[in-house]
This record gives sequence, structure tokens and C-alpha cells, in this order.
Amino acid sequence: MKFTTLLFPAVVLGAACPYGTYAPEEPTDTRGVCPMLNTLANHGYLPRNGRNINENQTVQALYDALNLTPDFGRFLFKAGRLSNPMPNATTFSLDDLNRHDLFEHDGSLSRQDAYFGQWSRFNQTVWNWTTQYYTSDLLDVQIVANSRAQRHTRSNLTNPMYSLSEVGYLFSVAENAAILSILGDKVTQTCPKKFADYLFTNEQLPFAVGWKKSALPITIQDLVTTFLAIQSATSFPPPPPDDSSVDIFN
Ligand code: HEM
Ligand code: MG
Repeated sequence: MKFTTLLFPAVVLGAACPYGTYAPEEPTDTRGVCPMLNTLANHGYLPRNGRNINENQTVQALYDALNLTPDFGRFLFKAGRLSNPMPNATTFSLDDLNRHDLFEHDGSLSRQDAYFGQWSRFNQTVWNWTTQYYTSDLLDVQIVANSRAQRHTRSNLTNPMYSLSEVGYLFSVAENAAILSILGDKVTQTCPKKFADYLFTNEQLPFAVGWKKSALPITIQDLVTTFLAIQSATSFPPPPPDDSSVDIFN
């Protein structure tokens, strides 16, 4: 047999799935609770098998696919690495993120609470509850704040084991901020509903519905800005414009 014939399957397979091209996960691959990291593995930005992801791979993937700054990528990688149960780990696998109550939390937008069963993969019923609160074609701070509050209220009322740690709370708000400022537009803090729906349901970057990678680099500060906006849009009643002007003793 000719060398070129032997090489053919490898060349074809490699060509079928170049870096950045979508291919559905294989049954032997590992995926988890984060719709965006699953998506980046489906596109080959992260290892397609979802395993042993190191810092450079994470930073490069988040930069190439989403225009996240390297500082932001390194910050996010830390959460991944800390979720690996091996001491002194330098990598993580996507299913390490499923550890309940470490970073994974109740009241997710598209996953059911661990109390009810399988909690790491997309759940259409849960996502329907979330999208019922997506009351405009353009998601904004108030809309994601409402739908996040709805998920936690529903979990609190129906799950006798419902809990949300301080870290879980930070993740929950930050994930909603990420929808607006990373998947959507960090300047306007909005995201077309169809981008979120496409990404969550297909675990594929939403090019088919008009999405483009942010032309502007996205920093940790961008996420924090949207985080704070969602936090104050969640308060009920809304906080007074300037808390220091309120003197409760007079
Ligand atoms: C969910 C980790 C990057 C968007 C999660 C969860 C974890 C996680 C642990 C599960 C929380 C839960 O719902 O219980 C990480 C790590 C990242 C990363 C370690 C980077 C190394 C990103 C990026 C985005 C993103 C870049 C950008 C859009 C989301 C969203 C959810 C989520 C929207 C909520 C899913 C839901 O509530 O159903 N992530 N993530 N993540 N992540 Fe990521
Ligand atoms: Mg969860």
C-alpha cells in the first residue's frame, strides 16, 4: 500500500475538523456544566475530548474565539484548575466543573439542580423556564436579572436542598453578565436572544444567526461592570440613587 493511501484517513479527518470548526461531541468526549466551554471544545478551540486543558490552551481559546484578554483568560483558568480534585493540578477537564457546590450551583439557567438528578447537561425544560422571562428579542441587564431571579426563586421554592454559597452567587451573576458582555455587546450590555438560545441549545457558536466575535477586547473589568449592573437591577425595591443621602435617624 502506498504511503499516501495510508496517510489519507488522517488527512481527511484532520481537514474535516480544523481548529475553530464545529463538530458535535463524540460519546467518548467529556463535557460539563459550562455551555461556553462545551462550545469551545466542539469547535476545537479547546481539546475536543474536553480533557486535560492547560492554561495556555484556555487563554488562547478564549482569545481566539471570543477576544478575551489574556489576563481574563488566566483568571478564568484558575477556576478550572481549582475544580480539578488532584492536588497541584495544572490542568482541568470539562467534567471537573460539575462538582456540585464548588463553582457549580443551584438555580442554573439551563441545568436542573443536582437534587433533581442529572445536573451537568442542557435541560430543555429548565431553559424554557429561563427563556419565558426573555421578554424581548434583545436581552438587557433587567431581563437577565429577572430571569436569574426567577430561577433562584423557583429552586428555593421547589428544592428542599436548595443552597447558594457566596461563590455560587458570584458565579451565577457573572454567568449572566457573560451572556451580555461576552456573547453580546459589552458596550451596550445587551445580547440578541437568538445568540443565547442558539449557543445554549446547540453548544455551537451562533454564527448561523449572525453572531460575530467581539471586535473589542473583553477585560475582567468589562464583566465586573455588567455584574454590578445586574446586581443592582435585581434589588427589590430598587436601591435609592445615592444611599449616603438617606439618613434613617431623622
Ligand atoms: C456556567 C465555569 C468560561 C458562560 C458555568 C459553570 C461553571 C463555569 C463551573 C456552572 C455554574 C452553574 O450553572 O451551576 C467556567 C470556567 C470558564 C468559563 C472555568 C473558563 C475557564 C465561560 C465563558 C462564558 C461562560 C467565557 C461566556 C459566555 C457561562 C454561562 C453559564 C456558565 C452563561 C451558565 C449556564 C447555566 O446557568 O445553565 N461556567 N466558565 N463561561 N458559563 Fe462558564
Ligand atoms: Mg448548576
